[in-house]
Order: sequence, then structure tokens, then C-alpha cells
Amino acid sequence: MTSRSSVTYLRATRVQFAPVGLARFVVALALAAILAPAPAAAQIDVVIDASKTGPKIERHLFGQFAEHLGKGIYEGVWVGTGSPIPNTRGIRNDVVEALKAIKVPNVRWPGGCFADEYHWRKGIGRDRSVTLNPNWGGVTEDNTFGTHEFMDFLGQIGSEAFLSVNLGTGTPQEAAEWLEYMTASPETTLGKERAANGRNEPYKVAFLGIGNESWDCGGNMSPEYYLSQMKIYSRFVRNFNPAQQDAQQMLRIAVGPGGSGPRWTEWTETIMKAWQRHTWSWDIEGLSLHNYTVVDWNAKHKSVGFGEAEYSQILKTTLEMDRIINEHSAIMDKYDPGKKVALVVDEWGAWYAPLPASNPGFLVQQNSLRDAVLAALNLNIFARHADRVRMANIAQMVNVLQAMILTDKEKMVLTPTYHVFKMYVPFQDATFVPVTFDAGTYTSGNVTLPRVDAIAAKDAAGTLWIALTNIDPNRPADVAVRLAGTGAVAAAGETLTAAAVDAVNTFEAPRAVAPKPISAKVQGDRLALTLAPKSVTVISVR
Ligand code: AHR
Repeated sequence: MTSRSSVTYLRATRVQFAPVGLARFVVALALAAILAPAPAAAQIDVVIDASKTGPKIERHLFGQFAEHLGKGIYEGVWVGTGSPIPNTRGIRNDVVEALKAIKVPNVRWPGGCFADEYHWRKGIGRDRSVTLNPNWGGVTEDNTFGTHEFMDFLGQIGSEAFLSVNLGTGTPQEAAEWLEYMTASPETTLGKERAANGRNEPYKVAFLGIGNESWDCGGNMSPEYYLSQMKIYSRFVRNFNPAQQDAQQMLRIAVGPGGSGPRWTEWTETIMKAWQRHTWSWDIEGLSLHNYTVVDWNAKHKSVGFGEAEYSQILKTTLEMDRIINEHSAIMDKYDPGKKVALVVDEWGAWYAPLPASNPGFLVQQNSLRDAVLAALNLNIFARHADRVRMANIAQMVNVLQAMILTDKEKMVLTPTYHVFKMYVPFQDATFVPVTFDAGTYTSGNVTLPRVDAIAAKDAAGTLWIALTNIDPNRPADVAVRLAGTGAVAAAGETLTAAAVDAVNTFEAPRAVAPKPISAKVQGDRLALTLAPKSVTVISVR
């Protein structure tokens, strides 16, 4: 993002200076201020040269995170075969249909903190153990949604598995046996057990997360201690699927930092320094980064019923993602200039105060237009770092934190964040195209932000896609795009906005925040369009 300008808007108010008293002069000034039209915001000039391309924007940047937490899995995904809610083998059909439409590339499961207390054997076979979920509300966990149900769910939505294995309370042997159970041929004892449980063919496990937040809920380990454990898991937790030996190898993702500053840079340094000198016997292909958008962990913002001040504060905080990625990328570049190890932002999103009357351990929050803008800004940051950031997982998919979908028994509603993910589908696996623009500024109180944001990409068919966000909640933005390297004839797409920054979709009004068609005026190599205040727009150029 180029945020060069600090444009000062000068109000051209003519005040007649006559020999009057000071009081009259002040009144005249005040009146002039009231009557003068709102200052016209400067046009945003965007230059896109479609002949210049950057890295691929991996589809895995649009991944989801689904933890056994509150109603994220139970009710949100799994209702059971006997449920009156329409389902396929216990998995709700409405949620599957909605997720198919956003082409979820991977789902991280079963946690989160839950993963470091998860014992996979309790979730297979006929007799499932009933355990507890001490991290999240202390509720019972009946393990009816286990390995086979998760893989069935992925099959139904057309997604890939990102398994987080238990490095906290588990052992390398337990994790190794889970992978053997899932991926070995049915000739082995574990493969035979899998087949007896209904799946003959080995499963594909695309990604393996080695622990979760091992610096905190995952065991409060030092980086050195975690490193010694991680090497063992990296070595012994194998994938035996014949189809994943040469091509489509499982990618191993180590626990990485949880923010910015010395504690976190030390973590990244320790892992990456060791990785640079790693021997044949262990390796990783990814380093995780967790970064939630929270202004104050002790006084979290509300997810609904807020105003412009909270809107701008949250967006200011979310833009920190760029600096945090830069901080860790610089360390990674030092030890891995070839960018072999991906930075995987496998937990991100807004974390607000739980909705009143909800179980605070269930992390239930509403999802507003602010979250749509926030999602677009983060996806743009990831795209700009696509050479290093090759995977990300928003927290979380259904009913938890910044969710795509909210459910209440048989009811389901798609959130504003869902719509952004849907609008951004064309960016999955597209090639990044550099964009130059002067973002201008938007100021609210003591918060100053860039006024607009933009990214562009070219898909496999050669179509150019442009995503534009107008952060300013008060002023529309006139955007003039100069296109080089493409002969545009038409440009159209969708825009997402609403009357208020805290507008939400509810079961009663499910389309209060929903995309609407938008078109741009095209003249030669120029496009002109107006972005509504607080909006996200995606257009294609043909
Ligand atoms: O997403 C909720 C929790 O946040 C996850 O379980 C944990 O990894 C993180 O602290």
C-alpha cells in the first residue's frame, strides 16, 4: 500500500470581513462552516500494469479454522444423523452448500487449544468416549465428530485437511499412529482398522500443524524446548499415502510467533536458525503466525452497537498485520532467502467481547460491515506478501469469533465476512499484479488511516480482477484506474456496503449487508468508478 499523501483539505469558505464586532465575525465563521458543502475528497488515482506480474496468490490464503469450541462444530457443522435439520451423514446441508460457494481450500482442525488435549482414538469407531472441553466452557465433548466425520465434511465441501496434532498432552507416537491410521494402506493393522470404520482408501492429509501456541495454551514452552519436540514430530509423524510421496507431499507447519516484539522475534529466530542448519532427518515447510485484531484484551470491543471511533480503532489495529508480517518475514529472509518456508497465518480475525447472555467460553460475536472491511484489508495484506505468506486461516468458520456463518438450530445466516470471501474467490491461485496508488487519508479523532486500499490479480483465463476498499465511512471515493497492458472493454463486479459501520445480518434480516452489482465507466485504458463509503468492491476487467 502506498500511503504517501497527508493531504490537507482546505475549506474554501469566503468570509466577508467588515467592520463588525468579534462576536458577529465568529457567528459568520460558524455559519459558513455549517452551510459550506462537505469538502470534496480528492480523486484516487490507481495505476495497474497488467503486463507486470508478481507471485501466485495461493488459494490456501483463504483457509478456514474450525475448532471444537462452542457451536463451531457441534450445531455449526455437525447435527447428527437423527437431526430434523437437513443433513448428509450428520453434516448440515445448508452450511455445506454455503461453504462450497466460497471454495474453502483447507480447514484447520480440531484446534486451537483444543488440539493439544485431543486424543484421536476417542473420536473413531462405534463407542465414542465422552470427555470434557476444559478450554472452552468446560462442556462435555461426546466425540461424535471425529476423524471420519471431519474427512467426510471436507469431501462434501471440496476442501483439504490441515490437521493440528497434539504436542501438548500427546506423544509423538500417538500423533504418528493417527497419521498412520489415516494414510497407510489397508494391509497394515491401523489401515485395516480405518477400513473397518468405513474408509478403505488412505486419506489425503495436505497439512500437518505440529502443536498449537506451544508458547501459551499449548504448554507455555520456551522456543528451545518446543524446537526439540517439534523435530521429533517432524521426523516421526509420517504420511504413508502413496499419492503423497513425491507429488502433493504433506506440508509440516511449526508453531511460530503470536505477535510482534522481542518475545516473538526470539521465537522466529530460534526456529528459523535451527531450520537453516537442519539435517536430512527433519524439516518444516511452514511457520505459523497467530495475530488477532484486539485493541485491548482486558476490555474487548463490542461486535455490534458501536460507532465510528470503534470502527477506526479496530481497523487501525488490524492494519498492524502488515508490520507484524514484515517483522517476521525479515527474520525468515535472513535464514531462508529462497523462501522455502511459508509464513502461515493460521489464526487471524477480530476477537470481540462475547455477546451478552452467551457462554463466554463459546466466543460468540456478531459480524458487521466493519468485519467485512477488516477481512478485505487482511486478505490484501496477505496478497501483497504472497511470496512468503502462502496460507492463512481465519478464526473461525462457523459460530465462533469472526465467522463466515452463524446458525441457531435450523436457522443459518451468512455474515458480511462470508460475502468478502465469496467476492475474493477469483483471487484464489491468481497471479498478483502490482498496483500503484496514493491512498489518501481518513481521520477519526486521533486515528488516521489510509482512505482506500487496492490489490489486483490476473486469473488463469487472463481476466484482471481488482479489489478496492473504501475505509472512509463518510465519504465516497472517486477512483480513476489507468490500465496498462490490457485492452479493457468492460468492467463490472460487486460492492458490499450498508448504511452503518455496525450493520449486521440477522436471521430476521439476512441480507442487510449483501453484495450488489457495480459497474465502472470504461474509456480506452481508463476506468472510473465511485466507491461507496465503508465498502468493499471487486470488479473484473475484460
Ligand atoms: O481461536 C480461539 C483460540 O485462540 C485458539 O484455540 C487458540 O489457538 C488461540 O489462542
